[in-house]
Amino acid sequence: MNRLRGPFETVLIASGILAPEGARPEKSLAEIDAENMARVMAVNAIGPALVLKNLPRLLPHGLRCVVGVLTARVGSIGDNHLGGWYSYRAAKAAANQIVRTAAIEIARKRKDAVVVSLHPGTVETSFTKAYPGHPKVAPSEAATNLVEVLDQLTSAQNGGFFDWVGKPVPW
Ligand SMILES: NC(=O)c1ccc[n+]([C@@H]2O[C@H](COP(=O)([O-])OP(=O)(O)OC[C@H]3O[C@@H](n4cnc5c(N)ncnc54)[C@H](OP(=O)(O)O)[C@@H]3O)[C@@H](O)[C@H]2O)c1
Repeated sequence: MNRLRGPFETVLIASGILAPEGARPEKSLAEIDAENMARVMAVNAIGPALVLKNLPRLLPHGLRCVVGVLTARVGSIGDNHLGGWYSYRAAKAAANQIVRTAAIEIARKRKDAVVVSLHPGTVETSFTKAYPGHPKVAPSEAATNLVEVLDQLTSAQNGGFFDWVGKPVPW
């Protein structure tokens, strides 16, 4: 990121893993593995945190700018009715907290900044390959949906968590 110059009016952070290669999301407590859990945390929570760390100097002053971080509805603690997926859920919940905290800090110097967590829906990517029975949207459709959501957001929604139709997701 040191080589990027900016300013960027729109930034999307879309990195993540469901589980490390060769592993799968846990179905029970007994499947928790410290190394796998640490890897899922590193990619889903610490990775976006490091991008956010470098972001303030790349955002414009005095202009609206939006930063969307793809987390996931399964990172919602309030919406967790199914259980399972300990590492991924916890890592996305941590990412949501990092996004919310960054949004507060960034808005101190950039009143027109909108920094949010986004849930893209269930999308046909490598993430969902192992779940053929679920209805999914194409990546292009998911991207269009998220761009439309970002276009509608104002600084009043800074620090929020929204799904692909722009509806707030419970924390
Ligand atoms: N697909 C879904 O249904 C769904 C649902 C909810 C949330 N999400 C979230 O949406 C985001 C995008 O997922 P996707 O569905 O587009 O999956 P994807 O196609 O597998 O994309 C994941 C991205 O993360 C990058 N990545 C993985 N490990 C990385 C690492 N160690 N360092 C840097 N980048 C890394 C990958 O880069 P490379 O291509 O270089 O490996 C890839 O660009 C993720 O955060 C995911 O949690 C997806």
